[in-house]
Amino acid sequence: MAQRSKVTLPQLQAMKERGERITMVTAYDYPSSLLADRAGMDMILVGDSLGMVVLGYSSTVPVTMDEMIHHTKAVMRANPAALVVADLPFLSYQASVPDAVYNAGRLIKEGGADAVKLEGGQAMVPMVRAIVNAGIPVMGHLGLTPQSAVQLGGFRVQGRSEAEEEKIAADAAALVEAGVFALVLECIPADLARRITAALPVPTIGIGAGPDCDGQVLVYHDLLGLFDRFRPKFVKQYANLAEAAVAALEKYRDEVRQGKFPDQEHSFK
Ligand code: KIV
Repeated sequence: MAQRSKVTLPQLQAMKERGERITMVTAYDYPSSLLADRAGMDMILVGDSLGMVVLGYSSTVPVTMDEMIHHTKAVMRANPAALVVADLPFLSYQASVPDAVYNAGRLIKEGGADAVKLEGGQAMVPMVRAIVNAGIPVMGHLGLTPQSAVQLGGFRVQGRSEAEEEKIAADAAALVEAGVFALVLECIPADLARRITAALPVPTIGIGAGPDCDGQVLVYHDLLGLFDRFRPKFVKQYANLAEAAVAALEKYRDEVRQGKFPDQEHSFK
């Protein structure tokens, strides 16, 4: 396959303007980054969802900056053409503007990411503005924001009441004003996502936000069927790799027990 050139922010913006859908998937290590890039994704997200699907935490809250940097470095070693966005984990940006700029800088400088993502609306405007002023592209994240899931009443659809709807729309406008280059909309009604997408000048990337966002993102392990602790309604599973992996592991186990592996083909003379 011909080498793709690096996806840029102006290209993503032009895709919105042309009505071309933007594709994004999470990746957390070298092999998942290689495969996501080989599949031609426009963007890769080193999501803090890695805390749940790779590290086995029960939420994204315990994820640390060092863990995010470790995984971002591995993703970047695949040298993806996709634009790589790394998540700022819980408590790395909420407490102060200097924290936000410093930790965003670490994801870029140490991790090698192209951009960062943070969760939250109007309260995050000073942080977004300061990170953007430091020369770092920022993606926003509204709706169901997993780092504050307890405060939001759990992993449930956001923006169902008129007040919630107006708050999310106002948060989106404030983040754009502060300088985000794109916005993830997670788990909100499709009508609200359509309204926000039409109103904003920057791309929206939906997850559980219906078909009318400018792009879509899914978690790698969810779409490939590698994580089944729970599956939200919005996840479409495109493969069942866990089943294929267990079948292969069982076959290997049986062949070792039966003395069938290694055979001549896999031995040295
Ligand atoms: O961490 C993550 O994977 C995310 C996506 C769900 C958007 O933030």
